[in-house]
This record gives sequence, structure tokens and C-alpha cells, in this order.
Amino acid sequence: MVKICCLGAGYVGGPTMAVIALKCPAIEVCVVDISVPRIAAWNSDQLPIYEPGLDEVVKQCRGRNLFFSNDIEKHVAEADIIFVSVNTPTKTRGLGAGKAADLTYWESAARMIADVAKSDKIVVEKSTVPVKTAEAIEKILAHNSKGIKFQILSNPEFLAEGTAIEDLFKPDRVLIGGRETPEGQKAVKALKDVYANWVPEDRILTTNLWSAELSKLAANAFLAQRISSVNAISALCEATGANVAEVAYAVGKDSRIGPKFLNASVGFGGSCFQKDILNLVYICECNGLPEVANYWKQVIKINDYQKSRFVNRVVSSMFNTVSGKKIAVLGFAFKKDTGDTRETAAIDVCKGLLGDKAKISIYDPQVTEEQIQRDLAMNKFDWDHPIHLQPMSPTAVKQVSVTWDAYEATKGAHGICILTEWDEFKTLDYKKIYDSMQKPAFLFDGRNVIDAEKMREIGFIVYSIGKPLDPWLKDMPAVA
Ligand code: NAI
Repeated sequence: MVKICCLGAGYVGGPTMAVIALKCPAIEVCVVDISVPRIAAWNSDQLPIYEPGLDEVVKQCRGRNLFFSNDIEKHVAEADIIFVSVNTPTKTRGLGAGKAADLTYWESAARMIADVAKSDKIVVEKSTVPVKTAEAIEKILAHNSKGIKFQILSNPEFLAEGTAIEDLFKPDRVLIGGRETPEGQKAVKALKDVYANWVPEDRILTTNLWSAELSKLAANAFLAQRISSVNAISALCEATGANVAEVAYAVGKDSRIGPKFLNASVGFGGSCFQKDILNLVYICECNGLPEVANYWKQVIKINDYQKSRFVNRVVSSMFNTVSGKKIAVLGFAFKKDTGDTRETAAIDVCKGLLGDKAKISIYDPQVTEEQIQRDLAMNKFDWDHPIHLQPMSPTAVKQVSVTWDAYEATKGAHGICILTEWDEFKTLDYKKIYDSMQKPAFLFDGRNVIDAEKMREIGFIVYSIGKPLDPWLKDMPAVA
């Protein structure tokens, strides 16, 4: 029986390995992590991450050929294939701080593999890493290996949170990069055989190591670029009376462009886009390509602009101050169908409103008060270090309250900001909400999920991203 071990039981390691276990009953899969609570949660009924369909997959395989454990060394020693899916945050200090990938977790994983391995292994980069990381990992393994042979493969993960199981069941492509030597190609084939259990062969792409590593960064940069492109157009729509939904629809109908990823919003978030683009920017700078670096940097600048434009719009609409006013925030996760708040636009928007002394009341169907308080108390870039390594009791932000009920959050509020596109926000009883709010009642839709005209009929003053402005808002222009 082939044995797989995965280091890192996070948003990628957990779901990916669960699907491999489900689709490959002849393979034993063990997911290991340094975090004791995280592994305990994977072994319980309350999984540590929310992902539609994940519970069912885990239930089917756990204890059969899927295991979660803290006994890292034992499972690494026994495995034939080791996936490394640890976090690769942005460096917070030293050379490349604020841009370069922090490979501390990766390096310590590689050293540990070299220490405990007693037989030849295939080591798979599942984490998103800078181009040429495999070369560094090879050196670490080779220098510590005591004669054991390691083959490094790059197999970046393209799943999206919120649709991870669907994406893993039917990936657009699986990408495997390896050395162009007979041993390297043998390792590529071994990993290809795993995926071939359920992925059609024409969707399994094989490349050299550096192409695979760079493709992941490039794919995320292209995706984020589309969002920043449509968000840049949304600002112009507001200034001119065009409607970004109509513009995006017309643009997306061009088969060369396509309709996906063209929704204007308060800005992208998530653990990957910003981190990976910063990483790309840093690699370009290190390779003497400042123009290319600046090109991609602009994608992040527009994203920051979009968030501060939104905050300015809220403040200027409400008579240029939100001091002491209750603002309800609906949605805190970086997108719907996940409880993940890493780099969510909601953090910057809330911090902006708190800077103007607003009182914020937050409701998100999947995010706990502890997480929200931690996010709002944390410094930029600290979020992507594992929770157990973060300070556990940050001072709670006093102007912030968190509830498990949208009606409670909006009661007595002067304004509402919708910051995540949860489906349930489309069907709330907005008449009831309006009646319970201070007047004039403002509704700022950062995800364009509600029908603005219906809301105006109820009595709300409505702001939707990139849509023709409410007459009220026209007199109160807001630019970041
Ligand atoms: P995560 O933070 O949810 O999980 C990483 C896990 O690795 C943590 O539980 C941590 O305790 C563990 N860990 C750290 N060092 C370890 C070690 N030496 N041994 C064992 N476990 C260790 O991170 P996530 O979101 O799963 O991301 C992992 C990688 O995958 C990152 O490089 C990310 O960029 C990439 N990625 C993430 C995607 C996402 O949607 N979250 C999608 C595609 C790629």
C-alpha cells in the first residue's frame, strides 16, 4: 500500500488529503500538524474549517485510510510521498520584509524530513512558494540526507476556499513539475498515478519544476488583476453614471475575456492573492525587473484604494462623521461559504471606520467573536502565522461587538455595510431592519448582493459599488 503523509492540516492540506483518501482507497493518507488543537478538531465532529461537502468526505474515510495525527516524525518516516502544505506567510522583518515569502515553516519541515527519513522519498511542494524554492529544499535535503534519495516535485494547489471539494473533485487542471531526469520523471509519474484515480489524463499537466512553481503565482496574479481591473472601472462608473454590472456583462461576453471574476466589490481578500503578488513582486525585483514588479504592485494598490474608497463613501455620506454612530457590518469572512478571515476586506473597512470612532456591530454566519477581535487587534501580515503561534489574548477592541444574529446587529444602527456576499443577506427582512434603525438609514453594499431599487422603496439611502449613485450621495463625493 502506498503511504502518503501531508505536513500541514490547514485549508489546503485537510481537504486535499481527504479527497485523495476518498478517491484512492488503496492509499493510506495521514495528515500531520504541529498544532494539537487543530488535529483534535480534525478528529472530532467539529472540523477546524468550514467548507461545503467536507464533513461528508471526512466521515467516509476517517479511520479507514485517512488519519490525522500529531505524531509527525513517525508518519513522515513511514511515508513514500510527503506533501508539504505548511503556511508560507509574507516576511514581517528582515530582508524582503512586507513582500518576500517567509519560508521558516517550510525549511523546518524539510530539515525534519531529512532527519527522520530512513528510505527514499518523494517530497511534494503543495504550499505556494517562490520560484526556485525546490532548489533550496533539494540542498537542505541533500546535505542532511545520510545517503537517502529525495525527489522534489512542485504540485501547487488551485482550489478556492468555499468550493474546495468541488474544485478537488473536478479540477480544471492538476499541475506537476519535476526534474527532467529519469529519477525526476519517475517521481512525476508516481504522483500522476495518484491523481489519475479520478482526474482525466488530459487535465494532468506536467512541466519542469520552475514552470510549476511560477504558474501558481502567475495564476493568482491574473485572478487578482481581473478583480482590480473591474474595481478600477467601478470607480469610473460611479463618477460617470455607468453601471459596472452592465459594463462587466458586456465586457465578459467577449469570448476572449469571458464572464468569470468580473464582479465589482469592496476588494479582494483571502490568504493568497496579496501574499502571492507581493511574493511575485519581490522575485521580479530580485531578478532586476523593476518595471514588471511595479506592474503587478498596482493590482494591490487598486485593491487598497477600493477599500479606502468604500470607507470614505460611508463616512462622507453620513455627514462626514461616524463618530459614536452604530454601524452594522454584515459579513466578515473574505468571501461566502468560508469562515476564513485572512486578509478579508472587512478588516481594513472596520479599522477605517473605527479610526473615525464608529461603534461597530458585526454579524457573520461562520466567524466567531474571538476570531474577529483577534483580526482587528492584529498587525498587518501577522495573520498568516499559525493561530497557536499568535498572541492568544489580544486586547479586545472595545468599540466592536459581535452577534450571531443579523437583526440584532442592525438594531438601532445608523448604517449597514455588507462586506461578504453570503446568500442569506439577499433574503433578510429589510423592512424589519429599516424599521429598527436610526433615520436616515444607510445601506452600503460592498458586494452588490441586494436589490438597491427595492431597498430605496423601503426608505434606505443605498450605495452599491460602481452603480449610478443615489441622489443623496451625489452631493457627497468621496474619493480615497
Ligand atoms: P493554514 O495556515 O490553514 O495551514 C498550514 C498548517 O501548517 C497550519 O495548521 C500549521 O500549524 C501547519 N504547520 C506549520 N509548520 C508545520 C510543520 N513544520 N509541520 C507540520 N505542520 C506545520 O494554511 P493554508 O491556507 O492551508 O495554506 C497552506 C499553503 O497552501 C500556503 O502556502 C498557501 O499559500 C497555499 N494555498 C492556499 C490556498 C487557500 O485557499 N488557503 C489555496 C492554494 C494554495
